[in-house]
Amino acid sequence: MPHGVDAQPDRVIIFDTTLRDGEQAPGFSMNVIEKLEMARQLARLGVDVIEAGFPISSEEDFESVREVAKTVGQLEDAPSICGLSRVGLGDIDRCWEAVKHASRPRIHTFVATSDIHLKYKLRKSRAEVLKAAVDAVRHARGYCDDVEFSPEDASRSDFDYMCDVLEAVIDAGARTINIPDTVGYAMPHEWGERIARIRERVKNSHRAVISVHCHNDLGQAVANSLVAIQNGARQVECTINGIGERAGNASLEEIVMALRTRKDFFGIDTRVRTEEIYRASKLLSHITGVHVQPNKAIVGENAFAHEAGIHQDGVLKEKLTYEIMRPEDIGRPSNKLVLGKHSGRHAFKIRLKDLGVDLDGPELDKAFKRFKDLADKKKEVYDEDLLAIVSDELTQVPETFALDYLHFVSGTGLIPSATVRLRREGHAFQDSGTGDGPVEAVYNAIEAITGIKGRLLDYNLRAVTQGRDAIGEVAVKVDFDGSVVSGKGSSTDVIEASARAYLNAINRLVRPSAGARVAEAGP
Ligand code: KIV
Ligand code: ZN
Repeated sequence: MPHGVDAQPDRVIIFDTTLRDGEQAPGFSMNVIEKLEMARQLARLGVDVIEAGFPISSEEDFESVREVAKTVGQLEDAPSICGLSRVGLGDIDRCWEAVKHASRPRIHTFVATSDIHLKYKLRKSRAEVLKAAVDAVRHARGYCDDVEFSPEDASRSDFDYMCDVLEAVIDAGARTINIPDTVGYAMPHEWGERIARIRERVKNSHRAVISVHCHNDLGQAVANSLVAIQNGARQVECTINGIGERAGNASLEEIVMALRTRKDFFGIDTRVRTEEIYRASKLLSHITGVHVQPNKAIVGENAFAHEAGIHQDGVLKEKLTYEIMRPEDIGRPSNKLVLGKHSGRHAFKIRLKDLGVDLDGPELDKAFKRFKDLADKKKEVYDEDLLAIVSDELTQVPETFALDYLHFVSGTGLIPSATVRLRREGHAFQDSGTGDGPVEAVYNAIEAITGIKGRLLDYNLRAVTQGRDAIGEVAVKVDFDGSVVSGKGSSTDVIEASARAYLNAINRLVRPSAGARVAEAGP
């Protein structure tokens, strides 16, 4: 069996956890099909390791990791496929069952080592936790060579105790030791020093790759990851668009582009094909319905826009005046016209593939039909339109409730009202509602039919391209009695898009495999 990822002194291993830490943040959940689509793009991007989920946490997570391992994990030159596991032996067995299908499987096991976590969360002594960590790593090594261990809350752990745990787990067979700043507490200078001190203090540290996993609570995640690399870390854990728990994880695109743009400073490479960065960022936004802020480094809408006159003048004379990277370095396309109403199915499929989406069979047929309908309504069809169409297909969960008919009346001096007809298992159900506006009227009608009450936490409408005839894309986050679910829908009619987004959220809520996730407690 191949031995996972080989470390090299002048290359840093990119461990992507978009599908695990990223996906577990509220509003970013993805179903199996969406995770697979994203994993394919991560493979094209050239990440070394994909952490595809936390298999014990739910049936759906297990299935996602297994499917990513079976498909993306079997591609030529495939990345390692990793699953997360607590140190309980049953967790590790379950994790192995999911990742074993990959040609390079990895088990990542973790337990907290800070006194705060030991006392309040795990209620275990230091000795008990050390033993559990060693037993877990040994057990995992019984399955595969590529085992990673993380002492959770490392930045607030007692240094000597944490180092004892690290030394013991390396002796037990851990190949990677990952040092997480779980709560985003560290400052770059001290974090760099901590990594250097771990390398000195842990006698057998040369037998493992040192990794870092930085959260962004104080906005230091990327800086902390880079300073760790300067101090000998050779793996960084990161996510596309920096998504993740709370304020997120270190952003992959920022780390990779910093290393590339400042190669003179770091002298370190990655295997990432940077021209795939933009597509990866866009695909993630389309799947989750969460768009990055315009001024987000590398992938934000304004990241390459020179607005000030003096800057524009400089760039026109010589790009080097204000541009340290080129849009093409990250694969950022010009907003070009792509297809028209005479374009065929093959051209449509090829263009989607260029955008990072590989559809076939019935999914391709459905998306192609929507493209044709759109091309009839809209003169100019852009890449963004295509992504909106396919992401609707990708974000489809089994349609327990399907929109069949929608009629609404609204205007000044009127009480907005809506009539909605939904289909469920071949039967049609119709009801109506009123509201302060047409969206509320539609949502009230949907609630009357489904009997499912939801509190709208967030509603976002955006035009996916320029032009009055643009597609409107609606992303919602709904609290259904404590379960927060997001949904997305698009249409040239924004009220229809709103109805589709809300139904998408309901369908996600009631989908058969949507089991509750276990809390990330201790061993
Ligand atoms: O933030 C954290 O500590 C984690 C671990 C599971 C690595 O996500
Ligand atoms: Zn984390």
